[in-house]
Amino acid sequence: MKKTIKQLCGFAIAALMSCLLAVACTPTSNTTPSTSTNATSPTTGSNQAPIPIGIAVAQTSNVALLGQEEVTGAKIAETYFNKNGGINGTPIRLVFQDTAGDEQGAINAFNTLISQDKVVGIVGPTLSQQAFSADPIAERAGVPVIAPSNTAKGIPQIGKFISRVSAPVAVVAPNAIEAALKINPQIKKVAVFFAQNDAFSKSETGTFQETVKQKGLELATVQTFQTTDTDFQSQVTNAINIKPDLIIISGLSADGGNLVKQLRELGYKGLIIGGNGLNTSNLLPVCKALCDGIIIAQAYSPELKNDVNAAFRQLYTEQNKKEPPQFTAQTFTGVQVFVEALRTLDKKTKLSTLSLPELRTQLNETLLVGKYETPLGEISFTPEGEIIQKQFFVAQIKMEADGNSGKFTFIQ
Ligand code: ALA
Repeated sequence: MKKTIKQLCGFAIAALMSCLLAVACTPTSNTTPSTSTNATSPTTGSNQAPIPIGIAVAQTSNVALLGQEEVTGAKIAETYFNKNGGINGTPIRLVFQDTAGDEQGAINAFNTLISQDKVVGIVGPTLSQQAFSADPIAERAGVPVIAPSNTAKGIPQIGKFISRVSAPVAVVAPNAIEAALKINPQIKKVAVFFAQNDAFSKSETGTFQETVKQKGLELATVQTFQTTDTDFQSQVTNAINIKPDLIIISGLSADGGNLVKQLRELGYKGLIIGGNGLNTSNLLPVCKALCDGIIIAQAYSPELKNDVNAAFRQLYTEQNKKEPPQFTAQTFTGVQVFVEALRTLDKKTKLSTLSLPELRTQLNETLLVGKYETPLGEISFTPEGEIIQKQFFVAQIKMEADGNSGKFTFIQ
């Protein structure tokens, strides 16, 4: 009897120790998120503390024209994956930190997510310009980052913890020129505009300019501006004077929309291609009726046929009464990659037994070797963290006659 009590005590002490250890090792145990904007009630039925994933995108500034669409994608993902069991029974919890539109905002958001919120990984930031400053912080801290919308050349090469679900300019942008040539095979002379203070715009214009030359077209003028500019009269006049058949813009949404508006107001009638920074319906209130006809390459189509896209599309359209945009789908996908990699890792090694640095490192290794069926179709990664994606599309903006509403119509 004495022995039995001793044994029972031994078991109780061992159980208590293992509970304490598990709590100490659970990455979420002492996490105090400063902002968690999506209080869904998970249906995982778990007593485990939710696993925190950071979302660092632009919720304010001009860049929020893109970032707001990313917040929506992340929130839908949190609801959807928690309803579908979370991480083998443990829910995820997204922790949002606003990066605003500049490098310092992204650096601050990353530092807070890494050190204070103790997230296992980060989806963000919105701009490549921000990623080149903020990603090295995550790299040094050993925190996996999945870029939802950074399309400049060189993003995955920032470090081994950096990958992206946003296909790079080199594979997306040429599709828009091919689509423009199908609409107007007579195109010969091309004018190119780009924002010279933005890393993505510089990278994308490089691809556009190379493609123009490869297609045997004449690159007649290259005009530059700043993403903060609102007046483009002198560049527009320079371009119109050379009578281009096609104008290609690499910039962000507010500047890009105003540039389109001024091109039309000053009489340009030919085709316009907008780059990835114009790929949002938040552009429509900027150039209104004059947005009509802009051609924009897409890394996502709402029509893509698979179960997860059907679910994502339904959740989005129920809330927003329109089709989901690319940035929303890409951010949903970024969260999905973390969720599925965490599930895989947890099956191999219980997450609660890993220290936070171990968990972050093993999560990164796991996500890089996975294959994912996502709203973007089937994706995987190169060992460097570059997305491997199969399908791309092209859309054209169609505005209603009143100029107040419009939509992206898929033409390829
Ligand atoms: N695709 C844009 C960038 O990389 C938003 O900055």
